[in-house]
Amino acid sequence: MTQDILQHAEGGVLTLTFNRPARKNAITVAMYAALADSLEQAADDAAIRVVVIQGNVATFTAGNDIADFQNAPAPSAQGEGKRPAERFLHAIATFPKPLLAAVCGPAVGVGVTMLLHCDLVFCGDNAMFSMPFVNLGLVPEAASSLLLPQMVGYRRAAQLLLTGEPFTAETALDFGLVNTIVPPDECNDFARGMAARLAAKPLTSLIETKRLMKGEQQEAVLARMAKEGAVFGRMLHEPAAREAFAAFVQKRKPDFSAC
Ligand code: COA
Repeated sequence: MTQDILQHAEGGVLTLTFNRPARKNAITVAMYAALADSLEQAADDAAIRVVVIQGNVATFTAGNDIADFQNAPAPSAQGEGKRPAERFLHAIATFPKPLLAAVCGPAVGVGVTMLLHCDLVFCGDNAMFSMPFVNLGLVPEAASSLLLPQMVGYRRAAQLLLTGEPFTAETALDFGLVNTIVPPDECNDFARGMAARLAAKPLTSLIETKRLMKGEQQEAVLARMAKEGAVFGRMLHEPAAREAFAAFVQKRKPDFSAC
């Protein structure tokens, strides 16, 4: 079990904490596997009623680890079965109980798209969100190409996904991507407090309410994830993404003039 994801269960609330500060909590294959394992177990564990995903006061997560992107196997070389990132995305998209997130500092890529699957999202006023898929020669994932236009409207989704530019906590609140902005050093406690309030409610009712709100769309969400995943997996190995990853590692601007 990786130490880069911390788990703490108390009073019916499971808290999953990104704990890789030296890499801005960038998510590795092992971290996806740990998150997927925890969520899959929590879905079936009667002792867990609510899950909170959080980072620390300075960073939520810098998204997928770029080195893992560089080392990803070509689609033709992938074995049978779901990869850990796919298992994680499936687990958050189908998680039956309340799923909360507390976001401070940067939330990049999957650090934002995972929030579209959470029921309640709280952020610090230092939160800075971005979905730079296009800037990395990639496409959106986690069914964000479906969910984001639904949640914020096509025009705003196009602004966020086509430019990939960072946006603030205020914009996230204005667009309806977060519920509340709080001081960063109170954010995780705020989420934990709300989780404890939810954990005291009848779980059967919480589950049925969530199912009524989300149930009918689940098939479309999973289908979109699969479609995005196929394009994403192919584009990871194309020149634009290879140039973007190399530029990130070499701390230079990418040159897309040939892409
Ligand atoms: N994958 C791998 N390493 C990452 C990373 C990632 N996604 N994000 C940050 N790191 C590493 C940096 O390379 C740096 O390593 P170094 O100390 O060896 O130089 C270290 O974490 C600290 O990051 P740094 O960029 O110096 O921090 P910052 O505060 O200036 O900026 C971010 C923070 C998150 C804005 C910036 O790191 C960033 O944009 N990261 C890439 C995000 C990204 O494109 N993710 C993929 C999305 S699909």
